[in-house]
Amino acid sequence: MKMDILQVLQQFSSIPLNENMLERPVHAHLGDLALPCFPFAKELRKSPVVIADEIALAINHPLIHKAEAVNGYVNIFLNRSTITSALLQKILDQSASYGSSNEGNNGIVTIDLSSPNIAKPFSMGHLRSTVIGNSIALLLEKNGFKTVKINYIGDWGTQFGKLLTAYQKWGDEQEVQQAPIQTLLKLYIRFHEEAEHNDFLNDEGRAAFKALEDGDTEALALWKWFKTESLKEFQRIYDLLGITFDSYNGEAYYNDKMEPIVKELADKGLLKESNGALVVELDEDMPPCLIMKSDGATLYATRDLTAAINRKETYDFVKSLYVVGNEQSLHFTQFKRVLSKMGYEWADDIQHIPFGLILKAGKKMSTRKGKIVLLEQVLNEAISLAQTTIETKNPNLTNKAEVAEAIGVGAIIFGDLKQHRKHDIEFNLETMLQTEG
Ligand code: ARG
Repeated sequence: MKMDILQVLQQFSSIPLNENMLERPVHAHLGDLALPCFPFAKELRKSPVVIADEIALAINHPLIHKAEAVNGYVNIFLNRSTITSALLQKILDQSASYGSSNEGNNGIVTIDLSSPNIAKPFSMGHLRSTVIGNSIALLLEKNGFKTVKINYIGDWGTQFGKLLTAYQKWGDEQEVQQAPIQTLLKLYIRFHEEAEHNDFLNDEGRAAFKALEDGDTEALALWKWFKTESLKEFQRIYDLLGITFDSYNGEAYYNDKMEPIVKELADKGLLKESNGALVVELDEDMPPCLIMKSDGATLYATRDLTAAINRKETYDFVKSLYVVGNEQSLHFTQFKRVLSKMGYEWADDIQHIPFGLILKAGKKMSTRKGKIVLLEQVLNEAISLAQTTIETKNPNLTNKAEVAEAIGVGAIIFGDLKQHRKHDIEFNLETMLQTEG
């Protein structure tokens, strides 16, 4: 629409205008758009104040409600109703191609999104990453980019040592089979409760993760089982949301690919020893990036570094996006800096797209303490609410179940997307499910 307004303004200006000249006033009461007249003063040999006065006075167009000259600016107030119908008409005319462009020139963008952790429930937080990431993918595709949606499953790390230890101590095979994630979550929570007054438990957990990293058969078999069961549960949610991925290569995929990267870091003289651990020191303003623990175990950052390099080699991306919560900002700044220090110029093409937390009663939800809202439960509630509404408002509808699912799921997705991306949001099922407004 900005282009249309520019064309209108051009009729009233003797100087060629371009899109960059139009600004958005800081305050809404100053108008929808503003044209600063300072750049024209020299050529027109008039003061910007006079130029703005003249243009504002001359403007007369159905799309513009009024134009006001203020200190060398022409402030433009759009005519809502004519703009709305013109815009809707344009969308109808151009149909699916409305808003598309070729800007991307087929460049590949990898998008790291969703990325839930196995053996834990799919949380509302992962919903944000999933729907924001998917929307970004749709926008990019519309603008001529090729996207690769990567679900970087959290299937590796010290927490699996803890889970294995907990299962070996208190686990029950049948219970896991019946309700995998719920049971595994309970074991995980119990581990943390007991570890509070039993230091030894944490050591056991660490040892179990080390065994897993070293390829211990029993540990590996249990881990695989936990993973298969978890992925089945996640898939149910993705099916409901109607979202697909191009790759499910998660953290574990990089387990046998980290060694050459650690070696490369060492060869480039970037690894320093610190209390037995290996770190990359960053600039003074930032804590060092931990690469390997003293027992040889790798970390989240080690896997992300390896994955980033692997993605560049596999896809030769023009941009690599990571749709991950605000709270991981430091991690992304750190590993990008490590990549730069390694001499990879494409580190600048990596971009963290942060978003706010979903709070419950003002507090962060914690899996460890069992304080989470389960997305699947929320989706099902939304669908049943839509069903009730249909029964009262439109009882003769033929495909009720289908429509209820579309409305319920749509309400949840939109309830998320309409929020300011970076703000924390208070979880509130009622407002999410409001169909009015
Ligand atoms: N699994 C992580 C979590 O739930 C998110 C992973 C984000 N992606 C990444 N490449 N680090 O916190």
